[in-house]
Amino acid sequence: MDIIKNRRSKRNFTSKKVDKKDIEQIVEAGTFAPTGMNKQDNIIVAITSNTVMENLLKAIRKHLNNESYNGFYNCKNMILLLSPHDNRNRKFDCGCIMQNMMLKACELNVGNVWINQFYDSYESLPIKEFLKSIDIDDSYEITCALALGHSDETPKIKPNKFTTKFI
Ligand SMILES: Cc1cc2nc3c(=O)[nH]c(=O)nc-3n(C[C@H](O)[C@H](O)[C@H](O)COP(=O)(O)O)c2cc1C
Repeated sequence: MDIIKNRRSKRNFTSKKVDKKDIEQIVEAGTFAPTGMNKQDNIIVAITSNTVMENLLKAIRKHLNNESYNGFYNCKNMILLLSPHDNRNRKFDCGCIMQNMMLKACELNVGNVWINQFYDSYESLPIKEFLKSIDIDDSYEITCALALGHSDETPKIKPNKFTTKFI
């Protein structure tokens, strides 16, 4: 419960890369998530290569038609969560996988934030070309992504606005 309560998004990453062993553990946590009909048909791509990160940033900038887009917060590592575009549970599945990975990253003291800019990028040419360059079949989309890094940020306490009801 402590990890759940203390998990927060972090941004504005330093240039220090995340340890490969930590990334492996974060990915492993994702693979223990539940998925609809137990399909487990996602591909979890952990990026450690600078060149691949640069190509991904170029692709998203083209997709968004915004050359100055910096919504990856200078992260040097990212986990892409891919799903078959025709799986109607894909967003729910990815939510479960993401939460497992975010909690594990927090446990390891690795800063992280969900990146949603790939939303609706399935038909995007630059994103398709990027996926092809990393040998991903064109039936997959990038459903969401997790930026990873080190950050000195101490997020402010956030108000809890959820509605709960016990009946
Ligand atoms: C579905 C979803 C999409 C999100 N997309 C982004 C995003 O694209 N960029 C970003 O900086 N944060 C993104 N976030 C992070 C939220 O802004 C963040 O979780 C929220 O403000 C609550 O803060 P906390 O994570 O510190 O609890 C996303 C979170 C979720 C769950």
